[in-house]
Amino acid sequence: MASPIEFFSRNGAGPKGVPRSPRYAQIVGWGMAVPDRVLTNHDLALMVDTSDEWIRTRTGIAERRISSGPKETTSVLAVRAAREALRVADVPASALDLIICATSTGDYIMPPTACLVQDALGASKAGAFDLGAACSGFVYALSMARGAILAGDADYVLVIGAETISRLINWNDRQTCILFGDGAGAVLLAASPEPGGVLATTLGADGSGGELLWVPAGGSAHPSSHETLANGLHNLRMDGKAVFRFATRVMAEATREVAAKAGWSLEQIDLVVPHQANQRILQSSVVNQLKIPESKVVSNLERYGNTSAASIPIALCEAIEQGRVRPQQNLVLVGFGGGLTWGAVAVRWCAPVTPHPTRWWKTAQRQVGYQAASLRSWWRRSVRRVYTFALGPADEATPRGRLRISVDRWRERRFGKR
Ligand code: UT7
Repeated sequence: MASPIEFFSRNGAGPKGVPRSPRYAQIVGWGMAVPDRVLTNHDLALMVDTSDEWIRTRTGIAERRISSGPKETTSVLAVRAAREALRVADVPASALDLIICATSTGDYIMPPTACLVQDALGASKAGAFDLGAACSGFVYALSMARGAILAGDADYVLVIGAETISRLINWNDRQTCILFGDGAGAVLLAASPEPGGVLATTLGADGSGGELLWVPAGGSAHPSSHETLANGLHNLRMDGKAVFRFATRVMAEATREVAAKAGWSLEQIDLVVPHQANQRILQSSVVNQLKIPESKVVSNLERYGNTSAASIPIALCEAIEQGRVRPQQNLVLVGFGGGLTWGAVAVRWCAPVTPHPTRWWKTAQRQVGYQAASLRSWWRRSVRRVYTFALGPADEATPRGRLRISVDRWRERRFGKR
């Protein structure tokens, strides 16, 4: 029996049997944002029984960024990274078809953080959703974005990895509090006829290991209660050793697999951008097992720690800034995390890495666009509030209720049934 792909390719891949022209998902913009507040190993040594020396030698981390206060949320960092990615690509937010935000620490359980980003950008024709695959989330999101582009469903997809994982940390647990930090990174994917971009992906999961890295409460299994709070069940819990063993195995496997899918040998990989969890994991998986030289592995753990879904895009942005990414290079982005999940994408880099200088009027135009987006958002919220509170429930018995019924009828005539 023919596989679905064989069947459809025999019978014409495009609509009405017209073969589709080849489409590729190219990375055309990138941006990152981290909080200003720095928490060093020395600061942590004042909080728990640890030392700068222990943390450096066991993890490679020297400091991490921590979001300050309730105003610096995941969506705030995500919006900063997203705006930068749009600026680099010189693409307006109005062109976006889809926004995917990979996060485990969204601003709310509902609405999705991606919708808050959509609103702040004024991306009026974009769909938006969050993707939960823990630290592998960015790789998963890239894979979904590529699929949407290759299927012809989207031309521009904004992919974000954003976290304020510090909000889940038990600051008395020395095993976890030393590892994590906050931040966001974003890339803009665009449909292109030029061969290259995200060429291959591989994703994996093993739900039997869910309890190796998890937050027990806050979901439908253990909704928030006095008991869950008292028992610290809203904090991140981790079996560090087990995660370490799993990570070293899957990082190497996923890199091998995605390179094979892209048709590359391991020697043909120019740069690996791995999830930044522990320097020893990078060393033992990518360098020792795959024999990829350390000079080809991006690491910025020392300054940011593990920023979960944000770590790969942040590392990618820094590699670009440092001139380590050049056109026609082969990149592998590889991650692992809670779930358990893992994944890798193979990217043939095509975008120019010295972005054209931004003209002042373009910057001004963008700023005006974002101000207009926030004004529009405010206006819509206000209208809804007035509508809900001032008019009250539809009820023939009260004057407010009758007014509501007349307004509803008028809206139906004007805008149709909704
Ligand atoms: O995105 C995925 C996120 N998670 C990960 O990637 C985690 C992967 N795992 C790891 O990175 C490592 O397992 C850790 C960094 C968490 C721990 O390193 P380790 O080398 O596996 O340490 P260990 O758990 O074997 O502990 C060794 C010793 C223990 O003391 P004893 O029993 O030998 O006396 C720990 O109690 O180190 C102790 N220890 C610490 N000492 C000082 C554990 N944490 C600390 C600490 N400071 N922060």
